[in-house]
Amino acid sequence: MKSLLVENIKRLVQVEDTPRRWVAGEEMAHLQCVDNAYLLVENGKFAAWGPADQAPQAGVDVRVDARDGLVLPSYCDSHTHLVYAGSREIEYIDKIRGLSYEEIAKRGGGINNSAKRLHEASEDELYSDAMGRIEEIKQRGTGAVEIKSGYGLNTADELKMLRVIRRIKETTPLEVRANFLGAHAVPLEYKGRQREYVDLIINEMIPLVAAEGLADFVDVFCDQGFFTVEDTERILTQGIKYGLRPKIHANELTYSGGIQAGVKYGALSVDHLEFTGDAEIATLKGSETMPTILPGAAFFLGMQLAPARKMIAAGLPIAMASDYNPGSSPSGDMRFIVSLACIQFRLVPEEALNATTLNTAYAMGIEETHGTIAKGKVANFYITHPIPGYEYLPYAYTGQPVKEVYLKGERA
Ligand code: NIG
Ligand code: FE
Repeated sequence: MKSLLVENIKRLVQVEDTPRRWVAGEEMAHLQCVDNAYLLVENGKFAAWGPADQAPQAGVDVRVDARDGLVLPSYCDSHTHLVYAGSREIEYIDKIRGLSYEEIAKRGGGINNSAKRLHEASEDELYSDAMGRIEEIKQRGTGAVEIKSGYGLNTADELKMLRVIRRIKETTPLEVRANFLGAHAVPLEYKGRQREYVDLIINEMIPLVAAEGLADFVDVFCDQGFFTVEDTERILTQGIKYGLRPKIHANELTYSGGIQAGVKYGALSVDHLEFTGDAEIATLKGSETMPTILPGAAFFLGMQLAPARKMIAAGLPIAMASDYNPGSSPSGDMRFIVSLACIQFRLVPEEALNATTLNTAYAMGIEETHGTIAKGKVANFYITHPIPGYEYLPYAYTGQPVKEVYLKGERA
């Protein structure tokens, strides 16, 4: 048995005695902490913690001095598109000049632009670019990440993307989940023949993706100008038949019906949610679908904000993820998401931390093993530089508070 003891922790944040699946409503404003603490890890799992004077004195393999830093569980980033080729900063200038996301997409920019570049890139190039991004988010405190396909938009390229994600899964200490998003945009060659593209996804892509075991989830961009509720229902039905649980893009551009469709098909999460009204909140209430807000995309595109406070007041849980992608959120920095949660969505720091750890763990289907510091969960955590408290994380909004990262109990 291998053990690791972290000592001199100023504050151990977000410990959990009784693991929960998620936190909702008023409960989101609470974080259980231990001041002046130790943390013991055994065989890559959290084993014990408590006040420093109760720390084990002998029989420990590795001792780590936190030097009065805080210790927090790693972020879980439940929504990214971090496998992509090239970047889209030039197109972003059109956005600055006033073109909307939909207008840029209609001109063959946007997702189709990334699809063209992905087509030209080799699997090795995609893998090494994506691993650069993985390294970057790892050093900023992310320990688990969901990655979507959706820049392929034809069978061969969608499979290529998913194989890259599989290779990332096999070679990084981060916990990775793959999401098949063939229905990200209608490819240019299918313009005016959207139904045929949906048929291709259903009849060809999903069976092949499932046959190779390349995805955990199925996704659809269910929104105005992209895929309809009918398209979405057809794709989700087939995905479910092939063992893929839905996690979908919904209500970013209008009241698309995506939230209702997601809940109806048992989606693990519905993501974006800028257009969420009373009907959508009522649908989400009592469901097992995690409402997930993507503050980075709303910030970068200057969109109206999802009504996070109203949703929490209604007793809902909220998750927040980075949406790391080249078009609408070219950053995977989850600490900045915590800042945006507080600055723009008026969450308190405790709510923001719950939204980016336990609730995103649920939105990736890994809440039993990740998302908090609980006995038996995977020891993914980070030690901060000496900072006054966790409230400092959202406050210092360009800060780099992470000093050391541990994944599966090992220095990463
Ligand atoms: O989540 N909304 C749809 N898809 C992505 C954007 C992808 C892109 O523009 O490349 C998103 O924001
Ligand atoms: Fe997205």
